[in-house]
Amino acid sequence: MATSSSFILCSLLLCWVSSQTLATTSFQPKALVFPVTKDSSTLQYTTQIKQRTPLVPVKLTIDVGGNFEWVNCDGGPVPCDSPICKASGSAACETECLAPPGPGCYNNTCSHIPDNPYSSIGIGGGEMASDTTVIQSTDGRTVGKAVVVPRVVFTCGTTSLLGGLSAGALPTTSTYERTRKYDSSNGVIFFGDGPYVFLPNVDVAKSLMYTPLILNPVSTAGAYFEGNPSTDYFINLTSIKINGKAVPLNAALLKITDGNGGTKISTVNPYTVMETSIFKAFVKVFRHEAKNLTKVSSVKPFKYCFSSKNTPSTRVGPAVPLIDLVMHNSSVYWRIFGANSMVQVKEDVICLGFVDGGSNPRTSIVIGGYQLEDNLVQIDMEKARLGFSSSLLFKQTTCSNFNFTSSV
Ligand SMILES: *[C@@H]1O[C@H](CO)[C@@H](O)[C@H](O)[C@H]1NC(C)=O
Ligand SMILES: *[C@@H]1O[C@H](CO)[C@@H](O)[C@H](O)[C@H]1NC(C)=O
Ligand SMILES: *[C@@H]1O[C@H](CO)[C@@H](O)[C@H](O)[C@H]1NC(C)=O
Ligand SMILES: *[C@@H]1O[C@H](CO)[C@@H](O)[C@H](O)[C@H]1NC(C)=O
Ligand SMILES: *[C@@H]1O[C@H](CO)[C@@H](O)[C@H](O)[C@H]1NC(C)=O
Repeated sequence: MATSSSFILCSLLLCWVSSQTLATTSFQPKALVFPVTKDSSTLQYTTQIKQRTPLVPVKLTIDVGGNFEWVNCDGGPVPCDSPICKASGSAACETECLAPPGPGCYNNTCSHIPDNPYSSIGIGGGEMASDTTVIQSTDGRTVGKAVVVPRVVFTCGTTSLLGGLSAGALPTTSTYERTRKYDSSNGVIFFGDGPYVFLPNVDVAKSLMYTPLILNPVSTAGAYFEGNPSTDYFINLTSIKINGKAVPLNAALLKITDGNGGTKISTVNPYTVMETSIFKAFVKVFRHEAKNLTKVSSVKPFKYCFSSKNTPSTRVGPAVPLIDLVMHNSSVYWRIFGANSMVQVKEDVICLGFVDGGSNPRTSIVIGGYQLEDNLVQIDMEKARLGFSSSLLFKQTTCSNFNFTSSV
């Protein structure tokens, strides 16, 4: 009984939908729902699920690159006899690794299933597991009955997690002070069709814009098998405008050539990463457009910071130049307001939340978690398209406004 569906992620500010194939044993829910939390120290998005009998809660990091991969990131390697390893149904155990200890090399580690019956779901590589999981259903408005989903695939261990992280520039979180704002960030993920209703009764499914998902024929994973396409979600970003002014870019970098270049989205990168020439041109135009704001010294990992004291705030964050990511059609663009472009790093300092990815990154632009927060993003595999809402703040709601009160 496979039913096709979509998945949505909405966290602190992050919303997401994706099309996936679900199979449930009992009744057919319209959609499934997961709470999302942003970890304030790692800046990773996590969710918690329950597996097996007796139910074991498992905390997982969300990596939307690929087919919605669930990565366990609770500390170091997962020991063979741990509840997570047992819950995963993994028969494989890495008992001894003779190389120096490090990612992918630990003694006594839960390992991938050599004969994975669910590999048709399409998650490549990693220390993988798949099992029966209990998840809440939803009608898109509130939480309904718990359902048993027999085939939830996730990765178990650290290899995949680090593989994901190495793709981007993860900032050292200790370099700047965190304010309370970052601590209680909640959101939601839906698997399945809309509506996606947020208090006070805003159905975001109705206001999505769409752009095609593009196949990158060469894997962008840290390690992959020759000939495998990328499981990341690539989109056809054709230009970037700031207050309507085009950022001069080398268009070749926006195309995918032999697997290199192009634009993808990632929840593993906390901030959008741009190839260095794109980054420099982007900052230049932004600075020009933001010249009435008071620049202050930069705060890592950001280059461009200014005082928030005399920056007026609006419902969609600080009043700063609007950034439009223009897609395949010039009238289809993803508008980024101050709430998603500016990061508050200290009391009176906000920084442009984009980072320099160096001169030769695999992918030219990686749209990161901060820019996705409080935006609803839908991955529609069936129609091979990505839907996006732009800031929900503009629609007077947030990703933390899903009603998690159960109706049963
Ligand atoms: C694993 O244990 C062996 C001894 O049994 C030791 O030589 C090796 O360094 C250990 N490897 C790691 C990764 O800890
Ligand atoms: C800077 O200019 C923008 C756009 O013209 C405006 O919205 C904003 O209020 C100005 N900020 C300051 C501090 O004057
Ligand atoms: C991206 O969009 C442009 C403009 O519509 C189009 O010419 C180009 O073929 C598209 N690229 C891909 C890979 O779809
Ligand atoms: C671009 O999008 C607009 C608005 O969605 C649509 O009316 C127009 O036909 C599209 N143009 C092309 C070339 O697809
Ligand atoms: C949230 O959902 C519950 C259960 O369906 C419902 O009783 C409650 O009124 C909802 N809350 C709001 C604010 O709509």
